[in-house]
Amino acid sequence: MDFDENNSNENDPSASPGAGASPSSGNPEPTSRPRIAVPPDMVLEAAPDAMVVVDSSGSIIYVNGEAEKLFGYGRAELVDMPIESLIPTAKRAAHVEVRNSFYARPHARPMGAALNIVAQRKDGSVFPADVKLSPLKTPSGILITAAVRDISDRKRAEEQLRTYAAHLERLQARLEHKNIELEQRNSELEQFAYVSSHDLQEPLRKIIAFGDRLKARCGDALDERSLDYLARIQNASSRMQQLINDLLEFSRLSTRGRAFEPVSLSSVTAAAISDLELAIEHAGGRVEITGVDELPAIDGDPVQLRQVLQNLIGNAVKFRRKNVPPIVKVAGRVLTGEDGQPQVELTVEDNGIGIEARFTERIFTVFERLHSRESYEGTGIGLAVCKKIAERHGGKIFVKSEFGSGSTFVMRLPIQHTERGH
Ligand SMILES: Nc1ncnc2c1ncn2[C@@H]1O[C@H](COP(=O)(O)OP(=O)(O)OP(=O)(O)O)[C@@H](O)[C@H]1O
Ligand SMILES: [Mg+2]
Repeated sequence: MDFDENNSNENDPSASPGAGASPSSGNPEPTSRPRIAVPPDMVLEAAPDAMVVVDSSGSIIYVNGEAEKLFGYGRAELVDMPIESLIPTAKRAAHVEVRNSFYARPHARPMGAALNIVAQRKDGSVFPADVKLSPLKTPSGILITAAVRDISDRKRAEEQLRTYAAHLERLQARLEHKNIELEQRNSELEQFAYVSSHDLQEPLRKIIAFGDRLKARCGDALDERSLDYLARIQNASSRMQQLINDLLEFSRLSTRGRAFEPVSLSSVTAAAISDLELAIEHAGGRVEITGVDELPAIDGDPVQLRQVLQNLIGNAVKFRRKNVPPIVKVAGRVLTGEDGQPQVELTVEDNGIGIEARFTERIFTVFERLHSRESYEGTGIGLAVCKKIAERHGGKIFVKSEFGSGSTFVMRLPIQHTERGH
């Protein structure tokens, strides 16, 4: 194949300089620029890809410099060589068939259309190639131009991506597995807490009942010290009963919770405050509410949410500073969660004793208290219950505090949430 001017189509205006101007007018359009003739050889030579032109018998009749570089042959070696020499031996027969069927119906095939082509260099090494084919009609028949690109880098990147994706998939599967295991262990623990606290109740009831009988029957016969011992046994027993009851309640939270329904946080807050009315009055304090009435209803368990508010507001009143009447601010707002879904945020702020930074996480664990029972009553289960309830609702709870001047408990809950089964 010869790409010189003798072979170019005479009707092709691009073949001669200035052919764009109308010959009859003699007066070229003022905007038209003279055409620049570029010999086709130069175009192929300057192409960024290796270019190989093949005739109908599969013989190479033209290559550019990029093709020499890519395949490691000199131009003289390549010309007249069967195109199949650039393909590994095992794939040659199949390629002849593909080539023949392409000649039977020549059409343009873009890059990327056939991704699994393997080409072979002079030194026998192979590389994955992307090949764009286009038929070229010439007076001496149809030729095929092939633009060949080494895609080893792309293949390597794809392979790496596949490895990463597989690795990620394995990690995700492991995480899911761990999650299921954790959930199982969690429910086993809850079951254990429930059964043990339930079974502890019976002997404890006996201790309390026989203590009462002992006091009724022999109270008069006992000296002061013995009576004091008996009183201590009874106090400790009723405290233990309280702890066991709390533990039982805690272990029932997720298993015995009510089905979710639309809950008005405004009603829940009002109900919690009304339960605490006496304590608030007794402390000479007040509760200020802002933004809670405007909150949308959320999916939840109204009894449990009331329990949360009751403990948070109850704590805000209980852990007040000496001679400082408690002022509790309950505020509500809607915000967008980390997952992009709308959430409600309830904050309970007080002007009480505050919490040291090192305790702000620990106080949410069962029976964790920072003060003696003599200074502030309670068993230390309240915040553990709040945390578990917030989590059952798909939300979270945390505290920000300034030790000595007050604390703000923050609870964030998704507006829509379907509880997961246990
Ligand atoms: N608003 C608050 N200000 C200061 N300290 C607080 C506040 N709320 C909780 N705490 C600290 O966190 C501890 C745990 O609180 P939590 O509500 O779990 O227990 P409690 O109130 O002591 O007992 P319970 O709630 O079981 O009656 C409290 O004992 C207290 O030390
Ligand atoms: Mg409490």
